[in-house]
Amino acid sequence: MKIGIGNDHAAVAMKNEVSDYLKELGYEVVNYGTDSDASCSYAVYGEKVARAVAAKEVDLGILICGTGVGISLAANKVKGIRAAVCSESCTARLVRQHNNANILAFGARIIGIETAKEIVKAWLDAEFEGGRHQERVDMIMAIEDKEQGKK
Ligand code: RB5
Repeated sequence: MKIGIGNDHAAVAMKNEVSDYLKELGYEVVNYGTDSDASCSYAVYGEKVARAVAAKEVDLGILICGTGVGISLAANKVKGIRAAVCSESCTARLVRQHNNANILAFGARIIGIETAKEIVKAWLDAEFEGGRHQERVDMIMAIEDKEQGKK
């Protein structure tokens, strides 16, 4: 399975550690940057990874900024994306099982690397449960269609 990973300047070190961990677990990792500590906008990298997931260049995405919030907000503007910010593993498991989150986000200034690894593992090990959750996810995605064409 291919995982796309992206981050802003606040999360370069954590991105590298998470990438190594993903490779240890046997995942293929595609790095969408940034690899620089120079100040940049999380929106750029959130959009890059979201577009890669939406285009099926990668199977799933992981996004990291200072809080995980800005980068997930940007990703969620791309059609077909459900990016969820998590700070602990129970939520990470549930966003896959119930919300079919195709991008996991977290904050390098909020959690440490061990928690980040736990979150990543919980999310990747979980599976979408479908059924009533599929209906609810379909309702979320239908909102995108209602928004189309608006400026
Ligand atoms: C960058 O300073 C910071 O604003 C960003 O990483 C993130 O926390 C935004 O949501």
